[in-house]
Amino acid sequence: MLKFIVLADIHIVPAGRLSNGLETTSRLNAAIDFVNETHADADFVVFAGDLADRGEPEAYARFEAAVERLTLPRYLTLGNHDHRPTFLQHFGADHASETGNVDHVIDIKGHRVIVLDSSDPAAGGSGLLERTQLDWLQARLDEAGDRPVIIVLHHNITRFHTQNDFIILRDCAEFAGIVASHPDIRQVISGHVHMTVAGTYKGVPFCTLAGCHYSIEPTLESRSGPLPAPVARREGPGELAVVLSDADATVVHMEKFLDRHVVMPQEHFVRA
Ligand SMILES: [Fe+2]
Repeated sequence: MLKFIVLADIHIVPAGRLSNGLETTSRLNAAIDFVNETHADADFVVFAGDLADRGEPEAYARFEAAVERLTLPRYLTLGNHDHRPTFLQHFGADHASETGNVDHVIDIKGHRVIVLDSSDPAAGGSGLLERTQLDWLQARLDEAGDRPVIIVLHHNITRFHTQNDFIILRDCAEFAGIVASHPDIRQVISGHVHMTVAGTYKGVPFCTLAGCHYSIEPTLESRSGPLPAPVARREGPGELAVVLSDADATVVHMEKFLDRHVVMPQEHFVRA
């Protein structure tokens, strides 16, 4: 059984600063503690972008120091809040694939996991996979043959009918066309939207995790009455994804590492 963890939207800031009023390094430390204590048997962890809040060198140094405590191998990629040149200067050019982006291929336990860097900082929040990355993705999928493939990237791949639909992956239709050509695409997992969503887009199954930062209350287009302005943002739950996958099935558990409700007494589950 393949097991891996996805963390997203870490938003680390330099020491002494807050990100939208939140101490994001403490939240990252809580996530790392949770993974080390609860999921030490996982194969690896993917950090799916927005590692830094504003892409500063001090933020990447702080991020790196925090993740040292993680007992599992880790793969990093970038989101719209990251700054690729600063990231590569800090972590080293070998974190980039031949496309120049922070893309990775992980072949493990009969699966291929592809991590894609959809960061396009000039775009005001939306995501982009460059032509070279789409060609690279097609080649990596072709190599995978009939093996199950799971993709992780920062940006969500379709509109969610919510207020943040203007910052999705821009070339999503072409991306989905390439991905759907693979015979066993299991899941596309993203962060970015700070909310938990699952669905399909052009036949491609996807989900998003709320991530480590604040969560956003969805203002659905279909909801009657005036939309709230500003939209509500909540301090939690602090959510990561646990992916379990074998030859037949892939499941994604969204687990909360900050908002932990009280465990109910066992007596409520004993039949009289
Ligand atoms: Fe983002």
